[in-house]
Amino acid sequence: MSSLGTPLNRVDGRLKVTGGAKYAAEYPLPNVAHAVMITSTIAKGRVIHIDTVSLEKMPGVLAVLTPQNAERLPGAQSGADHPNPASDGRGQVQGGGGAQGGGAQGAARPAMRIPTVLQDDKVHYNGQPIGVVVADTFEHAMAAMQAAAVKYDEEKPVLDFRNSPKNAPDTVKPLGGERSFRKGDVASGLAAADVKHDQLYTTPIENHNPMEVHNTVAHWDGDSLTLYESTQGITSVRQTVARHFGIDQSKVKVIAYFTGGGFGSKGGPWSHETLAAMAAKKVGRPVKLSLTRRQQFGPVGGRPLTLQRVTLGATNEGVLTAIRHENTSNTSTLENWVEPATTQTRLLYASPNIETQYDLVTLNVGSPTFMRAPGESSGTFALESAMDELAYALKMDPVALRLKNYADSDPETGKPWSSKSLRECYALGAEKFGWSRRTPAPRSMRDGRWLVGYGMASATYPARQSPAGATARLMADGTIVVRAGTQEIGCGTYTAMSQIAADALGVPVERIRFELGNTEMPENPASTGSVTASSTGSAVNQAALTLKANIEQIAPGGLASNSAAQVVAANGGRPVEVTIKSQPSPEQQQYSMHSFGAVFTEVHVDPDLCTVRVPRVVTAHGVGRILNEKTARSQIHGGVVWGIGMALLEETHIDQRTGRYVNADLGEYHVPVNADVGTIDVHFVDEHDMHVNPIGAKGVGEIGITGVAASIANAVYHATGRRVRDLPIRLERIMG
Ligand code: MOS
Repeated sequence: MSSLGTPLNRVDGRLKVTGGAKYAAEYPLPNVAHAVMITSTIAKGRVIHIDTVSLEKMPGVLAVLTPQNAERLPGAQSGADHPNPASDGRGQVQGGGGAQGGGAQGAARPAMRIPTVLQDDKVHYNGQPIGVVVADTFEHAMAAMQAAAVKYDEEKPVLDFRNSPKNAPDTVKPLGGERSFRKGDVASGLAAADVKHDQLYTTPIENHNPMEVHNTVAHWDGDSLTLYESTQGITSVRQTVARHFGIDQSKVKVIAYFTGGGFGSKGGPWSHETLAAMAAKKVGRPVKLSLTRRQQFGPVGGRPLTLQRVTLGATNEGVLTAIRHENTSNTSTLENWVEPATTQTRLLYASPNIETQYDLVTLNVGSPTFMRAPGESSGTFALESAMDELAYALKMDPVALRLKNYADSDPETGKPWSSKSLRECYALGAEKFGWSRRTPAPRSMRDGRWLVGYGMASATYPARQSPAGATARLMADGTIVVRAGTQEIGCGTYTAMSQIAADALGVPVERIRFELGNTEMPENPASTGSVTASSTGSAVNQAALTLKANIEQIAPGGLASNSAAQVVAANGGRPVEVTIKSQPSPEQQQYSMHSFGAVFTEVHVDPDLCTVRVPRVVTAHGVGRILNEKTARSQIHGGVVWGIGMALLEETHIDQRTGRYVNADLGEYHVPVNADVGTIDVHFVDEHDMHVNPIGAKGVGEIGITGVAASIANAVYHATGRRVRDLPIRLERIMG
């Protein structure tokens, strides 16, 4: 009877393919007005004046909001302490204080995100929201936005990453760790090494491009606000918008039944939610505010640029005597955002001597934020490229080098793993890929005129869990309604949660109606950091088990011996309902909880043009229990596709004079299309993790991208003999 794990089709699949699934901008509110943001065309300075008079004369324009005329919000003063909303969510994930917590003591900039909601005239980056046009139609709003004449007091922006000072305050901590990590003594470890490796690796600024752009429909009813919102975190949107307006959270309702992708960029609120609510208040009508595609670049985050130095020392036998990983990434003048690219280096390989360190450079660009495996994506590119280089220096097989330094317990904490199947992942991936056919010398394999390269890398991501709530209710018709205030961002949450509930209750999955995406439901964490399966899944499991026990109490024999109608009748005619709150596993104190995997890639490189094709990627991951084999596979597919983009295509170009985002559209910001993606062969190693949480799922949202870029870069080296340490691997970087 159990449906858990089976590749059940998405329960919301039909709604999605027939257009029945409603996304935020599709709510047909009567009398809705349309808003677009006016964004700055300078990167630093002040907005002196926006000519609202001529804009207000344009067809259909209802209002123009500017820093000069906008409502003063009691909770959104510039420089006020606003915890980074996304970090709030992640702080819970970490089971501790906010990831960016710790005050601005002695810091040049706040640790908190400064909202840009027209409360002052300051410009921090090119593309920052500096006004809002509201009109009767989207076209009228766009026309007015494009006609906006803005007078600035312009200053010279800071845009030169390499030549600007490093300035991370010690008080600011990256996700899941300290600014510095020291174990043993790397200097003596390097002194004892037979072979050393020391290189710089870079990754560029990248921007998320979910198919659904960020958008909000804001609707005031008296002093109560409803937001239909495209988000990964309804709760943090509610908290932040309520704080901005200085109203009680109970006055703000956020609804997101479907979100068309977020990948971190919708992990918490930005400026457009509050701006939409301000506009709706101003015109006394519901307001729909949608970002343009261009506005996805800057106002809603991205992956920061990283400059990473990896230093390795090893004996001739390949035993790592020292590992050092330093990362400098850019942040903005609006907050201190740290890309935690060194996190995995503290735990991926056994070594007595490990040091990691991060630093920041402040630029006049949009704030960076979470982006698919934030930290591990860019960090594994550097570390796993370096490991490949070391393997060549040692004349060792890259898999053998990794096995030689296999960490049987967590090198950072010394704790045992709750489960770890990386050894099995290497073996399974290598076998499915045909790694034994690889001849180690660069340029030694060909397919016709194409150079062929085989590369591999390790993958890893933490298994986290946050507190989460759920209700479960047995109806007289036999339906069991399960509710949790989580989000469906494309991963299959409706489906997997229905399966968990059905499994716990011992009923067919068709009997379950799982509902999410409304702040009136029990609070759940943001759908970030691969926490939904473990957090919401544990809550749904607990609610279903509690409901089952209650039914058994009311009607002995439970649903096996009684119809739902009989149970409800025995309950005085009321549906049987339970509400629970689940907490992270206390075993987090005793065990280190992480997912691991291995990525094997074949590339073909044109020997004359240096174009790279990726005909084949084979993955093997141990991610705990698989809740739905189909949606889990899709998560890895998506991660690998994005890894191909990261390796070969993605890069946000920012004009070094003006700070303008140059390639801010899908024509110029390249992501892989079908023609760029070959076969992706996904494997999971069966893992029964008794410690991670009651359902044994570690989460599969982020790990799929980790290691992919390194695996491709390593394959390109094998094919060509050219080591590319700067992403993306453009053909001129291979030509050298
Ligand atoms: Mo994920 S980058 O935490 O949404």
